[in-house]
Amino acid sequence: MTESQKLFQRACKHIPGGVNSPVRAFRAVGGDPVYIKRGSGARIYDADDNEYIDFCGSWGPLALGHAHPDVVSAVTAAAENGLSFGTCNPYEVEFAELISALVPHAEMVRMVNSGTEAVMTALRLARGCTGRSRIVKFDGCYHGHADYLLVSAGSGLLTNSMPASLGVPESAVAEVISTPYNDVAALENIFQKEGDKIAAVIVEPVAGNMGLVVPEPGFLEALRQLCSKHGALLVFDEVITGFRFHAGAYATLCGITPDITTFGKIAGGGMPLGAIAANKRIMEQLAPLGQVYQAGTLSGNPVAAAAGIATLNTLRRLNPYPAMAVLANVFADNINCFATEKQLNVHCAAYKGIFTVFFTGNSPLRNLEEVKRCDTETFAAFFRHMLQRGFYLSPSQFELNFISAAHTREEIDSASEAAIEFLAKM
Ligand SMILES: Cc1ncc(COP(=O)(O)O)c(C=O)c1O
Repeated sequence: MTESQKLFQRACKHIPGGVNSPVRAFRAVGGDPVYIKRGSGARIYDADDNEYIDFCGSWGPLALGHAHPDVVSAVTAAAENGLSFGTCNPYEVEFAELISALVPHAEMVRMVNSGTEAVMTALRLARGCTGRSRIVKFDGCYHGHADYLLVSAGSGLLTNSMPASLGVPESAVAEVISTPYNDVAALENIFQKEGDKIAAVIVEPVAGNMGLVVPEPGFLEALRQLCSKHGALLVFDEVITGFRFHAGAYATLCGITPDITTFGKIAGGGMPLGAIAANKRIMEQLAPLGQVYQAGTLSGNPVAAAAGIATLNTLRRLNPYPAMAVLANVFADNINCFATEKQLNVHCAAYKGIFTVFFTGNSPLRNLEEVKRCDTETFAAFFRHMLQRGFYLSPSQFELNFISAAHTREEIDSASEAAIEFLAKM
């Protein structure tokens, strides 16, 4: 028995399913999870000292790769002065200033501890500002594990074939409408019927939690237009996309300004951190200035803020983004050329440093309905093949893989070779 297997056996006795987040279990891909004890750059090492080139990157936060020296020294320095004070601290001020400098529409920032918390606060704020209760989301988008957002949600629910979660009362989801991604007509229909009840439309501006699905031209523009016309607030959930494609928000790249933005993942550089950002008028509705309550014992934590500041400043300084985009494209091109030549039902969707290998011939995929037609069994075999060859992909067909600043062309070439070796046997 391997050390990872021994750890998993122990974990299963005291942790439900052996995992602290369902997406970490290998139930969708078979086998037992590997236990990672160390990471450096693009590589991770398991409890049995196997080395993997990591494309999961802690599900997105590690744009600089594992244990980047700038981030580690910032965290160490902050930790030496104390882990938490429950008071105001200088790091949170610098963090908020930095987000505002990098994201023009983020005039004010409130820090929390996770993406889930950021979304919960964003939507309460939207409801508080509008005095309305309905929320519109999109099928296959995931916005954390708050009760009312587990409706047609992507990520772990999709991976584990759970249409919804037990324990969520009807009343919690009664005010949430989920509609297909990239379908402007369906959204127009919803607004036509109940536009005056809708507090917010929340969207992953590039969808990642059903695998990579990019917005079609005009989709996000229509969201902006419909929200403005009907007095609803547009929430861009940039927990994945924030600082992923450049040292700023995706909103800046696509030229659409949301009313509220949520951040997480890269903004915390691997530490638990989320943030809500908007203009002053909206943000001043939050307590203690306004009547929308939000709080947190560890919110604005100095060590997490230090990790975020160091990560964002290093990304800004290095600008690794063009190189990351090239690497994702090289990988996708390699797979797609081979698949076309051999007429295989597989294609790799890539966008600026993120990618998903979809086991279906249809491309591009537009929404959850189409994504769900993928052959998850073949994906599982592909995942196991790649793991065995030393490449750690995100363990689900319905997730993203991430290129970091630490990945090299040689690593991408060897990952392509390993992938093609699998495809050749399909
Ligand atoms: C777009 C998006 N929003 C929110 C969340 C929830 O973030 P967290 O897992 O930090 O609670 C996630 C997590 O993957 C996400 O991808």
